[in-house]
Amino acid sequence: MMVSTLLLCTLIGLSSSHILPDVPTHFEDTSYWMKSGQENLRKILSLHDNENQARNIIIFIGDGMGMTSVTAGRIFQGQKKGGSGEEYKLNFEQFPNTGLSKTYNVDKQVPDSAATATAMFSGVKCRYKVIGLDSKAVFEHCDKTVNKRSRLSTIAEWAQVAGKDTGFVTTARVTHATPAALYAHVNSRNWECDTEIPNDQKDCTKDIARQLVEDAPGSNFKVIMGGGAQPMGTINRQIDTDVCIRNDSLNITDLWQKKNPQGKFVANTGELMNLDIGSASNILGIFAPNHLPYHAVRDVSEKGSPSLANMTLQAIRMLRRNKNGFFLMVESGRIDMAHHSNYAKHALHEVGALEEAVQVALDQVNVEETLIIVTADHSHAFTMNGYPERGNDILGLANKPGDVAYETLAYTNGPGFIYHRINDTSLQGPNNTWRSVADDPNRGDPWYRNFAGFYIEDETHGGEDVPVYAVGPYSHLFRGTFEQNYIAHAVAYAGCLQNWPSHCDNSYHHGRAYSKGTTLASSSLHLATFACVCVGIALGNRVAL
Ligand SMILES: *[C@@H]1O[C@H](CO)[C@@H](O)[C@H](O)[C@H]1NC(C)=O
Ligand SMILES: *[C@@H]1O[C@H](CO)[C@@H](O)[C@H](O)[C@H]1NC(C)=O
Ligand SMILES: *[C@@H]1O[C@H](CO)[C@@H](O)[C@H](O)[C@H]1NC(C)=O
Ligand SMILES: *[C@@H]1O[C@H](CO)[C@@H](O)[C@H](O)[C@H]1NC(C)=O
Ligand SMILES: *[C@@H]1O[C@H](CO)[C@@H](O)[C@H](O)[C@H]1NC(C)=O
Ligand SMILES: [Zn+2]
Repeated sequence: MMVSTLLLCTLIGLSSSHILPDVPTHFEDTSYWMKSGQENLRKILSLHDNENQARNIIIFIGDGMGMTSVTAGRIFQGQKKGGSGEEYKLNFEQFPNTGLSKTYNVDKQVPDSAATATAMFSGVKCRYKVIGLDSKAVFEHCDKTVNKRSRLSTIAEWAQVAGKDTGFVTTARVTHATPAALYAHVNSRNWECDTEIPNDQKDCTKDIARQLVEDAPGSNFKVIMGGGAQPMGTINRQIDTDVCIRNDSLNITDLWQKKNPQGKFVANTGELMNLDIGSASNILGIFAPNHLPYHAVRDVSEKGSPSLANMTLQAIRMLRRNKNGFFLMVESGRIDMAHHSNYAKHALHEVGALEEAVQVALDQVNVEETLIIVTADHSHAFTMNGYPERGNDILGLANKPGDVAYETLAYTNGPGFIYHRINDTSLQGPNNTWRSVADDPNRGDPWYRNFAGFYIEDETHGGEDVPVYAVGPYSHLFRGTFEQNYIAHAVAYAGCLQNWPSHCDNSYHHGRAYSKGTTLASSSLHLATFACVCVGIALGNRVAL
């Protein structure tokens, strides 16, 4: 009975499959939705859990890519491809497993990237704006004893111990919070240059740029790519006043070159893409004084800076030479920055750049042996609102006919407030507060600021959960709602990293150590061992199981 109903529905569907018209004057009918529903059901029923060892691990972070960014980003890409938009699925939305990550920091309801990246990469949550140190370490207050006891190790270190090659690429500075959480241990994410560390704390800790090149695990990275020529000392003039320059006359880039005589330093797209990977021991790419330019306005010539997809391609080509596999972190770092400025269109383009980079990975690796995770560190105060018609331009107006015009995409706060408020006091009134968006000639420009309901110079992050999409070995560990730090635990289990509990260890396979069936004695033994391992890992020690 069940089988025949399924078959019937499927047949009805197949007999009248149709493609959505460009201008939706008529809509998908019963047969479309029956087919779509049944196809999805069949797809889910046919899934099997991939229990291979994750030889390679790639974590993509859309910085600030909350759920609204994904939904709006999907519609934006779908519309660019000529569809009505809503029906489109970004490539990572087609991954078989999805979970929700709770992003709060130990001391903040709404988090920042430093602490969220620390949670994802170290498996331990910490304080707001702190990197690679647990909650004992206080923001902007370095204490040698406390920092030593707080020091966390990261996925990159565990992967290196497992014999894998490691690295990261980002469109932000290589010293910015998200990548820094892979390799640095500092009481403030702002300590990217020596000049940023307060004088009375300079002998307590090194700046982030130095930690990247001088200390493990950064010093072992095979791939480091992004912006940040100022903190890296590649240039010693202040070209961009938004980012620090060094005052210790160190050229960290040159230090890297001296430590890696066979390493290749590249500074633009041409140099990166024409690189003879076979002859390079590792790659350092520093493509801008500050962050890389926004994707939509970057110089696409060889002299310009590479896209996230370009960097991802060369990174994978470099890393996959290791027979033990690799760990790579890829950050679309400027979704976040676009939102901070209320540049909704830029933010959607940056989501598109992330999708391109994910496609490169899908084309270059085998998902039977590669765990790919796509997630965000946190969300933004960004909404998709109103009553727009199906297929309406995602950057368009959302009001009901006859009502005051407003846009589908808006922010609860940020600099867009000033732009949208009528600034001529003689024209202001209780019902006359906002400029008419319908008549605004700047809409469509990527530098146009969307509406914000409350003024602050920098729009804020959002505190709701963010999605986690996963494919490949043990991607089924990413299910349900979990604390953000769990991501590192699941990755270590999938990749059999260092001394973490993993499926490679018989006692933990299929969660045997945790299952009800285990005898009290053995389960408490395992739990004790597990606690030991965790403490060991947290202290950066290696504890044998
Ligand atoms: C730079 O270094 C010089 C001499 O070492 C010092 O006098 C000056 O205050 C430093 N400037 C900054 C901004 O740290
Ligand atoms: C720093 O070193 C890099 C690599 O050797 C070099 O390309 C760059 O010009 C140096 N920068 C300065 C300011 O000397
Ligand atoms: C760099 O990436 C862009 C997409 O972002 C692509 O169009 C271009 O072909 C890539 N360049 C090279 C040399 O692969
Ligand atoms: C006021 O708004 C007009 C456009 O409506 C703009 O050209 C002008 O720069 C604004 N002035 C200030 C002080 O923001
Ligand atoms: C503003 O609009 C509201 C709702 O339409 C109306 O009740 C009110 O009288 C208006 N106030 C002024 C000053 O026009
Ligand atoms: Zn941010």
